[in-house]
Amino acid sequence: MAEDLSISAGNKEEQYKSLLPQIQGLLEGEADLIANLANTVAALKEQFSWLWIGFYLVKNDELVLGPFQGPVACTRIRKGKGVCGTSWSEAKTLIVPDVEKFPGHIACSSLSKSEIVVPVIYNNEVVAVLDADSEHYNHFDSTDQLYLEKIIQLISFA
Ligand code: SME
Repeated sequence: MAEDLSISAGNKEEQYKSLLPQIQGLLEGEADLIANLANTVAALKEQFSWLWIGFYLVKNDELVLGPFQGPVACTRIRKGKGVCGTSWSEAKTLIVPDVEKFPGHIACSSLSKSEIVVPVIYNNEVVAVLDADSEHYNHFDSTDQLYLEKIIQLISFA
């Protein structure tokens, strides 16, 4: 496994294209879910320097904070609540250009201005969500959606 990440300086798509195989390499041969989630968010944080990036895992009908990089965050989110809970209940990726305009947004950090949440679906059920927050409005778009959805498919949730 490569221990140093090679950080790409290109445009967003080039950055994801350089990062994706590196994440694949980090996950190769490791079956432990928490280890893999932890390295995935660390790699994303190193490349993109977002305010916050992390997983929430579905446990007993709640989202519970999992591996993340960034400031401390809320530990539990109920289904249908906030951007994360809505992404879970709708089983779809949500891109929020201005978090203040999202009804029920849960502000873990007042610095967060925009957000993307990608659900992880295993056996037709949402088992986790990947949440990224930015200090900038309008930070996330369909390129982030495309590549973050590819990245979570690299992780085995079995
Ligand atoms: N803003 C999220 C809560 C999680 S934090 O951003 C880390 C939400 O509304 O679900």
